[in-house]
Amino acid sequence: MDRIQAAIEKTEKEIALVAFPEVGPPPPANDASWTKLSHVNLDRKRVAHGRVVTIDRTDKANFTFDILRTKILKTMRQNNWTSVAITSPTPGCGKTVVSLNLAFSLANLKDCRTVLVDLDLRRPRVGSVLGLEKVYSMERFLKGESALEDTFVRCGENIAVGANSYPVSYTAELLQSPKTPSILTGLKDKLQPNILLFDLPPMLVNDDVLAFLPNVDCVILVVAAEASTLSEVDVCERTLSQETNVLGVVLNKCEYGPEKYGY
Ligand SMILES: Nc1ncnc2c1ncn2[C@@H]1O[C@H](COP(=O)(O)OP(=O)(O)OP(=O)(O)O)[C@@H](O)[C@H]1O
Ligand SMILES: [Mg+2]
Repeated sequence: MDRIQAAIEKTEKEIALVAFPEVGPPPPANDASWTKLSHVNLDRKRVAHGRVVTIDRTDKANFTFDILRTKILKTMRQNNWTSVAITSPTPGCGKTVVSLNLAFSLANLKDCRTVLVDLDLRRPRVGSVLGLEKVYSMERFLKGESALEDTFVRCGENIAVGANSYPVSYTAELLQSPKTPSILTGLKDKLQPNILLFDLPPMLVNDDVLAFLPNVDCVILVVAAEASTLSEVDVCERTLSQETNVLGVVLNKCEYGPEKYGY
């Protein structure tokens, strides 16, 4: 087991070197913006119950997310991209579960600063899966009415999460408000994430995703096995590719895992 752990750590160090050659160890202890954020100790049992497997890393599904992380990092690094949106055709495909797992898998790379933002403003769930108890308002943050440290918390040395505690109305207007890009630039300037992930709503039910896409470098489409139809996936891929770079499609809720190959 020790040898496996050592091999995982060695691989993570190597990936970090390839992915971020010019980035130093994050976040520096004197980095005021990171140190200002409250540190939350996650209830590991609760988080695992919400299907986040990349913190404890005892569930086999953890490896799937590590592979996804590495593929994403490689492409993003090659293209100099830092921000990625996560959406799906319809509700419930697993965007939030994928976003959280990806974020914590990235955070296991000690040289990678990761920030996850809950922008599914109508059905926010990141905070509840993580068990965040305070009330957070992403709406107020995007309107410039609340500070970074009122909306974002640190869930580890190099991972920050922006949460939202209650549903918001008129979300598309908020997401495409002229203020939003400058607020996001401020977020990037302060936290300097290597990867900035946005958990977005499903794209076939409202215009939130289309409204927000100009703010990201690329997008991941999460589809659910036996729920998402081929035509939904096709329409989403076409639409997304007209608006931004499609990093890939994640097939979630698939019953056939890599264990069938003996791993
Ligand atoms: N791979 C999986 N296997 C089994 N259940 C899953 C998987 N991924 C997600 N789920 C479950 O499916 C439900 C929906 O997941 P999640 O909230 O991540 O989807 P979502 O796309 O973010 O939904 P919404 O559109 O409501 O935001 C949750 O109960 C979650 O635990
Ligand atoms: Mg969700």
